[in-house]
Amino acid sequence: MHILKGEQLEKIAFHLFLAAGAPEEHSLIVAQHLADNNLTGHDSHGFIRVLQYIRQIKEGLIIPAAKPVIVSESPGAAQVDGHYGFGQVAAKFSTEVAIDKAKKQGVSCVTVRHLGHLGRLGAYAEMATRAGCAAILFCSTGGYVPYQVPFGGSQRKLGTNPMAMGFPSEEEGPIVSDFATSVAAEGKIRVYRARGHKLPEGWILSKEGRPSNDPNDLYAGGSLLPVGGSVGHKGFCLAFMTDLFGAIMSRDGFPGSPGKQFSNGSLIVAIDIERFAPLAAAKSEVSKMVDYVKDTPPAEGFEYVMYPGEKEAKNRKERGKNGVEIEDETWNQVMALVQEYGVADKLGKLP
Ligand SMILES: NC(=O)c1ccc[n+]([C@@H]2O[C@H](COP(=O)([O-])OP(=O)(O)OC[C@H]3O[C@@H](n4cnc5c(N)ncnc54)[C@H](O)[C@@H]3O)[C@@H](O)[C@H]2O)c1
Repeated sequence: MHILKGEQLEKIAFHLFLAAGAPEEHSLIVAQHLADNNLTGHDSHGFIRVLQYIRQIKEGLIIPAAKPVIVSESPGAAQVDGHYGFGQVAAKFSTEVAIDKAKKQGVSCVTVRHLGHLGRLGAYAEMATRAGCAAILFCSTGGYVPYQVPFGGSQRKLGTNPMAMGFPSEEEGPIVSDFATSVAAEGKIRVYRARGHKLPEGWILSKEGRPSNDPNDLYAGGSLLPVGGSVGHKGFCLAFMTDLFGAIMSRDGFPGSPGKQFSNGSLIVAIDIERFAPLAAAKSEVSKMVDYVKDTPPAEGFEYVMYPGEKEAKNRKERGKNGVEIEDETWNQVMALVQEYGVADKLGKLP
């Protein structure tokens, strides 16, 4: 394991993207997003993704200089086309459009299509909360390798299709609910595999449709189960609806559409809180609700009840101070890219 500060992760990612042909502005947006994901505790959507994005640039699946463009617009709605650039660049732009429209109209709805992997969906919900807006986001992940098995099936058909919701608060972190509709994000399985760990029970099926805890089985044709365990029909319904909102409404094509390339087609709804309640009063009520829920005796094996988004806020504080652990496998592969692109002299002393 190697321990790095967030700024170091950001710097390495920034120089690699720049060397791989991305403009400075795009390299910075993506590098900051990945480093912050590590800080929030989502290693599956952090530094490890440098490897994937550089590979996709080489394969022509990410066009690093592509800029997102509004292709149709009305006062409360917009459709954005990311032209297969970085997902983070298109999603940040689309969220900014949604916030701007919500501030003018009260509520807005923006779709974005043809974009690379946008990373941690909750990051865009957080952006909206910082502007005093609530937000609801649906992100489809199909069309490439759909990892999720529909409830009652034995083969993968759907993406891991995350949904995120954000609400401004006075708490240490904004209230953010952000998770895959499969039992875990695929990237988490990637991290288990990179660390040589077994998966918890009930996460995946093997290619033959049998329960497995070997992460390699997912990549040998297995599937991720929908969230909910024995009531997985609920996770499946959410995953299905996420494709309708994220993929069909954005005109990105649903999983299984012929010739569909991977794209994180998404829909963002932003709501200006002030149109419904004074922002300060709403935030104060959120805190009262947080206090009310947290004032619950913990169950065995738990320390305390957490609000949605609390874990990420706590991780940011702790990892901001102590650094982020990067496993050898990821580190060695990223260092091989540092050599390949000749950027070592730009990175200062590394651990
Ligand atoms: N871009 C993509 O294609 C894609 C696909 C799937 C997932 N993702 C991202 O992967 C990330 C991880 O997804 P995941 O499904 O593994 O999420 P997860 O299981 O880590 O759950 C995260 C959510 O649960 C909350 N949470 C965690 N522990 C809690 C607790 N003890 N009490 C209360 N709340 C708690 C967190 O605050 C957060 O809102 C997300 O950011 C998601 O957006 C992205």
